[in-house]
Amino acid sequence: MLPIAIAGAAICAVSLTAGLVTRTTIARSPLRRAGQARIAAPQRWRPLAQALIARDKPIALLATWLMFLDTVIALAAPWPLMIVVDYGLGHHPYPPVLGPLSTLSTLSLAVAAAAAGLLLVVLGSVAGYLVTFLIGALGERMTVRLRSALIAHVLRAEPAAVARYPLGELTSRIGTDAAAVADAVAATVDTLIPDAAVLVGMTVITALLDWRLTLVVLGVIPLYAITARLRNTALRPAQRRARVRSGELATLATGLLARIPLIHVFHRANSEEQRYRQASGQAAAAAVTALDASARFAPVSDTLPGLGLAAALVVGTIEVSSGRLTLGGLLVFLAYLSSLTTPVRSLARLSTVIARGTASRDRVAELLRLPMLQPADNPLRPGHAGSRHRTRPSPAAHPDPVPARCDRRLPGPAIRLDRVTFAHRARPPVLAAVSLYIAPGSVVCVTGPSGSGKTTLLSLLVRLAEPRSGRIDVDGLDISGIPLPKLREIVTLVPQNPWLHAGTIAENIGYGRAGATGAQIAAAAEHAGVAAFARDMPLGLQTPVGEDGTQLSGGQQRRVAVARALLADTPVVLLDEPTTGLDPATESRLIDDLLSVTRGKTLVMVTHQPRLTDRADQVVRVDAGRITLAGSPTADGRPSAVPA
Ligand SMILES: Nc1ncnc2c1ncn2[C@@H]1O[C@H](COP(=O)(O)OP(=O)(O)O)[C@@H](O)[C@H]1O
Ligand SMILES: [Mg+2]
Repeated sequence: MLPIAIAGAAICAVSLTAGLVTRTTIARSPLRRAGQARIAAPQRWRPLAQALIARDKPIALLATWLMFLDTVIALAAPWPLMIVVDYGLGHHPYPPVLGPLSTLSTLSLAVAAAAAGLLLVVLGSVAGYLVTFLIGALGERMTVRLRSALIAHVLRAEPAAVARYPLGELTSRIGTDAAAVADAVAATVDTLIPDAAVLVGMTVITALLDWRLTLVVLGVIPLYAITARLRNTALRPAQRRARVRSGELATLATGLLARIPLIHVFHRANSEEQRYRQASGQAAAAAVTALDASARFAPVSDTLPGLGLAAALVVGTIEVSSGRLTLGGLLVFLAYLSSLTTPVRSLARLSTVIARGTASRDRVAELLRLPMLQPADNPLRPGHAGSRHRTRPSPAAHPDPVPARCDRRLPGPAIRLDRVTFAHRARPPVLAAVSLYIAPGSVVCVTGPSGSGKTTLLSLLVRLAEPRSGRIDVDGLDISGIPLPKLREIVTLVPQNPWLHAGTIAENIGYGRAGATGAQIAAAAEHAGVAAFARDMPLGLQTPVGEDGTQLSGGQQRRVAVARALLADTPVVLLDEPTTGLDPATESRLIDDLLSVTRGKTLVMVTHQPRLTDRADQVVRVDAGRITLAGSPTADGRPSAVPA
């Protein structure tokens, strides 16, 4: 008896110390060595849980061990009571293992038993605290991994595929759903393992005490399984609906908040508020339905241990009367049965968490299945999601497929579009079999009515959109085969909407090239006419531009976008209506600066500005998705555009 007690105490001490040390380390820096995870689009729980937990195996194992310890302590808790009742009060002869206790008086035995019981409670509660902390930290670390993997994928997926999801939907999936998935994995470790250990431990011990009584009590298990099955059938679809509604609500909210000025101008606060309240109500209703689908079964599953208890009381009385079980044994039995309510309840809670996690897992997996823009530049997920694509020239076939263009003596590359067709999903083509040759280092102006496909044409050249058919070459190489980092060094875009981010003017310009120096940023600002207006601001280039650049005028934003592209210093520059919103004097200065600073580069510019079209080597007119007019013939004597 004594050696067992000493060994147990030593194990407890070592385990709890290890737990406390780990707790302190994690509390100091919760994400230490959290690392990244390779997470494929998960359709089942097991690979996903493994990928999420892989790097935290030691923490998970320690937590599991502490749970086991906690379970053993919980199982041991009623035994001091049994010893006092049977051997102290009941005067049963002591079994040999408890021999040393026979020298104690009944009162001393009771005091010793009470002290032992109290010690067990304290040890159990410390172990319980450590488990809660470790599992909580594990959950947070898994959430970070899953969210990082999601962001990493979404940022590298085909832009058009991502654009199909509203912003609110994306934030809801990356935020809430990723956390729900990690919660489900953590809760499984936290609940299933200790509950299973408690149930198995109790069954074994009670079977040793009295197997007949145990069999009677086990009779409730099939009933419990049936209840669980019924609950899950109702719960899964309810949770899925609740998650969908919550995503819709997030979409509505982000849309609303982005349009506050519009809501003021058209006096729509009342109707928008009502719309939001209605959507909130629907989300809440779906959540309450999901809650009820689970909670409705609680009375049944809570009653089942009670049923076992009732049966045990009757059958136990028979067993004690017939002398097959001691009174203390029956007390242990009944103590176990009444403590069963906790694991049974937490299993019920677990099934709710898993049902919600499953709905979230499917929403997260959908994002992870978005096709990657190929050739992928993320070393973390080799070849993943590439199957949908037509075969493309492998970059390995030509190790450095594009000559370095930083050499200023080389003119910008030639660009050729060969029967390029593009359409948005099921819509009619925006561009229909467009062919166009742009000579090296030339300036091409693209004109045409609004909605004719000019912006789309530029999007194809930077691969923000992918052609349905046809091919786009830069210096004879299909751009869909050029490694993306390389393509970004060749082509850049000044978009129609300037895409500024909250930060200073200098930070926005600096976005054009990683590691650009202050002097380079200042030079780009000078050439793009940013310096001219920044000088009048107290903070100069360090002036914050506000979210979306809204603290600058439209024309100022546009010039920052031009400076950003100039800083990138690519041999091809695409500009989408770069001079819109500028006064004639500023416009004329910007055009002069632009043309002189980009001399030798290949420039493709959407513009209606005669001052620009007059100075172009070639003017292309796009009309309803076709090229209807192209200016001067190309160097090789062929017409520069072949109207299809
Ligand atoms: N995301 C989209 N989904 C569906 N259609 C779109 C989308 N973006 C643009 N379009 C359509 O594509 C056509 C060409 O648009 P765009 O290239 O922006 O025209 P432009 O720049 O010449 O004014 C337009 O008719 C527009 O309605
Ligand atoms: Mg446009």
